[in-house]
Amino acid sequence: MDLIQSPWFSYKKNHLYCGNIPLQDIINNTGTPVYIYNKQFFQNRYNDFKEAFKKLDNSIFFSVKSNFNISVIKTFLDLGCGADVNSQGEMFRALQAGVKPRNLILSGVGKTKDEIKMGLEQDILLLKAESEEEILVINDIAGKLNKIARVGIRVNPNVDAKTHPYISTGLMENKFGLNIDEAVQLFKMGNKLKNIKFTAIDMHIGSQIISIDPFSEAIDRLSEVYFRLKESGIKLEHFDIGGGIGVSYKGEKIFSLKDLASVIIPKLKKLDCKVFFEPGRFLTANGGILVSQVLFTKMNYDKNFIITDAAMNDLLRPSIYNAYHHIQPVNLFPGREDINADIVGPVCESGDFFAKDRVISKMNREEYLAILSCGSYGMVMSSNYNGRRRPPEVMVDNNNFNIIRSRETYEHLIWDEKLNN
Ligand code: LLP
Repeated sequence: MDLIQSPWFSYKKNHLYCGNIPLQDIINNTGTPVYIYNKQFFQNRYNDFKEAFKKLDNSIFFSVKSNFNISVIKTFLDLGCGADVNSQGEMFRALQAGVKPRNLILSGVGKTKDEIKMGLEQDILLLKAESEEEILVINDIAGKLNKIARVGIRVNPNVDAKTHPYISTGLMENKFGLNIDEAVQLFKMGNKLKNIKFTAIDMHIGSQIISIDPFSEAIDRLSEVYFRLKESGIKLEHFDIGGGIGVSYKGEKIFSLKDLASVIIPKLKKLDCKVFFEPGRFLTANGGILVSQVLFTKMNYDKNFIITDAAMNDLLRPSIYNAYHHIQPVNLFPGREDINADIVGPVCESGDFFAKDRVISKMNREEYLAILSCGSYGMVMSSNYNGRRRPPEVMVDNNNFNIIRSRETYEHLIWDEKLNN
């Protein structure tokens, strides 16, 4: 089997480490399943991002939906990063982590009045609207609060991001944003409203995008809108290009930030405004793993199964996107043969799998597996399905590790339920 290693997760004498910490030390402390993050990875990725775009007037807003643990948000905050949130809950998390409202932007195709009100009361930097009705509601709430709302409109540029259909968001059939002509109309209409100040134009065309072209094409289309608005007297301060940069899940090569920067910086420099980025996956995915224990192995008909104590409720991506996550043993036993196996969880669904027909070293009961690239869209998409407790999260920071979220208790599972007599 192939082993994927990086400066953040690597084998020393056949044992997998996160930075300087043997995973076995963490497992002995927390049990399994457990999410483990490498803080230095997060810092490194953020610094790479900053460096790649340093010639551009820009701000980076960490997309909290990719990993909402407050320690993770704080890691980026400490480096000067803002936060992009998609709900009141994420806004609450970002504020708890210490993000200043003026470094917060609120996205979302369907915001409740409470969410809008919270954004306005907190005086966050930007609310991104996606429909005429939403703009009218923002204007109304801002009026009642006696505030001027800073608003951006999300444009759907109808560009194919060539990614999984569930995470493609910039095509005309998608629910997100507004088409170019409608967006221009809306900017003009909304500009007359008393409690709205348009400050931004926004896009986000999808996630796990592995070529530069879709970004380039969408930026061209949005720039056109920006200049049309400028001509008609609406001068925007911010040009938000969203997130979406793809990462490697199989050890494959993805375009570099340098390549992306060399294509898009010249386009963005033509605009006379600040550029916003909202990376999520790029900053976190390969900085996290999910470690689980093998409960049982078996052969059913002619198929090998490895049954782990982690399940689809802990990591949903393989089940819903058929997403590839590389899986490898925590401890290597040289000379062990490879087999083909389905690696599955204990939940009573056939969709509860992490890998199908995967080449993997033969595993025995009670040995451990590391599921890679779980720093994004892992814990945030977990659930309590089958009455399972959500796993703990651990952050490795050089020579130390900290439990940044404990495993749920059974009491957590029913804390807000009442027996109906
Ligand atoms: N900004 C907006 C408005 C977004 O909707 C998203 C992600 C991002 C930024 C960050 O995108 P990223 O840089 O992480 O690609 N659960 C799916 C991914 C859903 C992405 C949703 N939006 C997955 O596991 O692949």
